[in-house]
Amino acid sequence: MEQTLAIIKPDGVSRGLIGEVIIRIERNKLKIKAMKLIQMSKTQAQGFYAVHRERPFFQSLTDFMCSGPVVVMVLEGENAIKPWRDMMGATNYKDAAEGTIRRDFATDIEKNVVHGSDAPETAAFETGYFFNALERV
Ligand code: CMP
Repeated sequence: MEQTLAIIKPDGVSRGLIGEVIIRIERNKLKIKAMKLIQMSKTQAQGFYAVHRERPFFQSLTDFMCSGPVVVMVLEGENAIKPWRDMMGATNYKDAAEGTIRRDFATDIEKNVVHGSDAPETAAFETGYFFNALERV
């Protein structure tokens, strides 16, 4: 079993897409092991996306990610990282496959509704960033 971090970003929460995303997660047999609604500070968003700190979109991305509430979740399943990324679709919704969350709902490369860890090491960092062991069932 593998765990990964999922985020429903501020655009997804403000547009009422929490239920839609969770339905898709459950239909795809991923188990929700932890979940909360939070609003990140700018510093917390910068810490979360520290790997992107040299990228030109870092400032805008971290502003966006603390602009409103987000839902953070730990998902578990067999090789959970890949099925969650497959459900999300490509970062740029214009490249995302039909039926993916980003293809169906994203409006912009930044406002792309959801986030998912991209590798086991990032999943360990990202799930640990938001949840301690007591907060996971
Ligand atoms: P996410 O999967 O959360 O990882 C980094 C985020 O940066 C990405 O989704 C997008 O929301 C955002 N982003 C904005 N511009 C770009 C870009 N040009 N390339 C990649 N990610 C971008």
